[in-house]
Amino acid sequence: FRSSLNFSLGRIEVQRVKMLYGYFYGGKHMKIIMLGAPGAGKGTQAKKIAEKYSIPHISTGDIFRANIKNGTELGKKAKTYMDQGLLVPDELVVDLVVDRVKQDDCSNGYVLDGFPRTIPQAEALDKALAAMGEAMDYAINVEVPDENIVRRMSGRRACVDCGATYHIVYAPTKEENICDNCHGELILREDDKPETVQKRLNVYHEQTQPLIDYYTEKNILVEVDGTVDIDEVFAAIVNVLGA
Ligand code: AP5
Ligand code: MG
Repeated sequence: FRSSLNFSLGRIEVQRVKMLYGYFYGGKHMKIIMLGAPGAGKGTQAKKIAEKYSIPHISTGDIFRANIKNGTELGKKAKTYMDQGLLVPDELVVDLVVDRVKQDDCSNGYVLDGFPRTIPQAEALDKALAAMGEAMDYAINVEVPDENIVRRMSGRRACVDCGATYHIVYAPTKEENICDNCHGELILREDDKPETVQKRLNVYHEQTQPLIDYYTEKNILVEVDGTVDIDEVFAAIVNVLGA
């Protein structure tokens, strides 16, 4: 009897530890939005956050690029906008993200990279979460002035197979032009040509920057300096999210 009591107490302890862990790192506290201009480092930091806190990294840009690569209908539609540096229409992206965050692996939180990007997208996300009794916890704005962006983009290389991102100077691969992750080939993204980058920056200032005020009003905005090196930016984020 005694040993079975110990056993069940043991299980209760494990449950309690899990609940406490869930309370600090779990669903209610790790729903994160990455904000920032194209090339600010959203993807770079989102990946590090996802690894450290064991939550999924959901990048709408990566989802679209995977669809383009696989020749899906969604990919064909998205490509016409992306190649011009324009945003894909809200109706093509909202349901996709809302469905994604309802999946089981998102129960401890997630990091959204590249979504929301317009006020209507932010409102649709809030409404869908509110219906589940939830809300976003952090909107992390990675601040980088426009002057730095064009230089960064021209040096960025992306893996055609797994989507991993590198930089020829700031985040080089071990072997030139070969992905460290999957040995895929690295390319300059179609929308990283300088003329398209300028267009994306204009679109960002017009349509996405208003989200900074939106999340300030919701009291979840966190600003980090994105001009310092990758590990320093990450340290500033961890300082806010907790070690
Ligand atoms: P998306 O893929 O989201 O592109 P983006 O927002 O333009 O952002 P990027 O991925 O270009 O930059 P990033 O901030 O992730 O920077 P990264 O970490 O790579 O979207 C592409 C397109 O898809 C959009 O234009 C739109 O058409 C469509 N789309 C996607 N989502 C949509 C939505 N919700 N609604 C409508 N349309 C949507 O870093 C950049 C480079 O800098 C890398 O080489 C990196 O190694 C380097 N770097 C990063 N941090 C540092 C640092 N601190 N110091 C030095 N170098 C650094
Ligand atoms: Mg990105």
